[in-house]
Amino acid sequence: MGLVTIADDSGLQRASAGQSEVWCRQLEEGNILFFPESPIAIQPEDRSFLLTLQQTSSGLHKNMAYKPAVDRVSGADIKGALPESAERLHRILREYSQHATEFLAAFLGPYEARWRLDYGSFRPEEEQGRDLPLRRRNDLMHTDAFPTRPTRGARILRFFSNLNPARTRDWITGEPFKTLLPQFAPRQIAFPRQRSTVAKLAADAACGIGLGKAIPALKRSPYDEFMIRFHNFLKENESYQANGKRESWYFPPGSSWMVYTDMVPHAVLAGQYALEQTYLVAPEAMVAPEHSPLGVLQAMTGQKLV
Ligand SMILES: [Fe+2]
Repeated sequence: MGLVTIADDSGLQRASAGQSEVWCRQLEEGNILFFPESPIAIQPEDRSFLLTLQQTSSGLHKNMAYKPAVDRVSGADIKGALPESAERLHRILREYSQHATEFLAAFLGPYEARWRLDYGSFRPEEEQGRDLPLRRRNDLMHTDAFPTRPTRGARILRFFSNLNPARTRDWITGEPFKTLLPQFAPRQIAFPRQRSTVAKLAADAACGIGLGKAIPALKRSPYDEFMIRFHNFLKENESYQANGKRESWYFPPGSSWMVYTDMVPHAVLAGQYALEQTYLVAPEAMVAPEHSPLGVLQAMTGQKLV
């Protein structure tokens, strides 16, 4: 695993089916697909505008989020903002989400129409030295899992752009899930367990009467529960943070990259001003499902976990 550089404009037109499948496979094996020049254009005046924004309550919201399903921005409590600034931010985030999605639909043919658009985000804070509670820190190696938005086996694919005109965005990544998991499970972290039929029926019934909205844990499958535990386990594991295998990446100004962040442990050590869009890709769309966290866990436990 490593970095796959896509330097020409081959992704800008609809890729051949064979080429698209190669790119999907490279992602699913734990590689980062890297575009030295982002395929998503940001107008210079829009970028200049974004560079003026700072969050006022960054402890409350880690980023400014864009929710494509309802076309809304949250966490954008901008210092001294004028009403038109909020509208402009909304328009830029909406366009980024739309353009990234159009690009990926053409670039990753096997996934087209088989993903759910999750949140997008604008990340205006300097990542180096951010003061966040341990489990929310971005500078500790982790795999992603969303406590309030269980994926039930769908994959977390994230597309990023570095908007900073002068500085790289500095990441480290570690060994992918398939290699990493056996180093810890089941000795240091217990495997997930298939739910009994009765427990499953009870959870489904509770969600059926709307309780899932108030109590997100009810919507979680054993897979989701495990992925949250694993996220916390890695961040809290001092030995892994200090000694785990890692590689460093420096994403330059104007570049984009995408990666399955549920399988590739990652941390951002420095950088300011990034845009991002997240996709939840259906497990059935995988071209190499044996590498997926769900595939690995089900193979190791012999149980059905969603
Ligand atoms: Fe993450």
